[in-house]
Amino acid sequence: MARLSVNVDHVATLRQARMALEPDPVAAAVLAELGGAQGITVHLREDRRHIQERDLEILRRTVKTRLTLEMAAVEEIIAIALRILPDMVTLVPEKRHELTTEGGLDVMAHENELKGVIERLQKGGIPVSLFIDPVPRQIEAAARVGVDAIEIHTGLYSDAAGGEQRDSEFRKVAAMASLGERLGLVVHAGHGLDYRNAARVAALPEISEISIGHSIIARAVLVGFERAVREMADIFHRCQTG
Ligand code: PXP
Repeated sequence: MARLSVNVDHVATLRQARMALEPDPVAAAVLAELGGAQGITVHLREDRRHIQERDLEILRRTVKTRLTLEMAAVEEIIAIALRILPDMVTLVPEKRHELTTEGGLDVMAHENELKGVIERLQKGGIPVSLFIDPVPRQIEAAARVGVDAIEIHTGLYSDAAGGEQRDSEFRKVAAMASLGERLGLVVHAGHGLDYRNAARVAALPEISEISIGHSIIARAVLVGFERAVREMADIFHRCQTG
């Protein structure tokens, strides 16, 4: 069965909205592990819109499962990865104006550059994964550049409008998972998965890890909201009666 790696980026998004100290993604990672997460994922973006270097440093010292760092293949972040030594790096394309990672890496177009970055990270002791669309030629290119793993982009499957389109996108993910395994790659998946659509992907035997962020954090805000309000209302109640 696939491992669940919980992406805690958006806990930091909320903190950065006020440039405050809370909520702390490190605390969220501890709770995620207590809740059964088998890994923690964070994306240190060049613009630092959510996760900060401080978060990564403390997570490296506190995560007891597996710490995955998503990052662009750029010098500044490569140097940080080689210093922090996460359990895995997932290389992703990064555009400043996107709301989230919008598509997979074009491995075919950047084979030589990627090869160099992958080798440097691997020599530093970090296994590397590439986030790619479920397209055969990209997966074949991933195998050529000597990467350890791929993460199949499940965004089109997750966003599919109806059953037929969803089934067709699911078949692509399943076929690419099996191609990846045949090519000797460890296969992960993620993006857009939620409480309704994740099980089908998690059940694919070739997929060893699934990364989920937004849907879990969105649910946590609502599931915890009533309790949070009640605790504040209780404080009011006590000061009025005490
Ligand atoms: N995998 C990658 C490479 C991502 O960039 C993201 C988003 O940060 C995820 C998985 C998780 O996606 P979501 O937040 O939609 O669950």
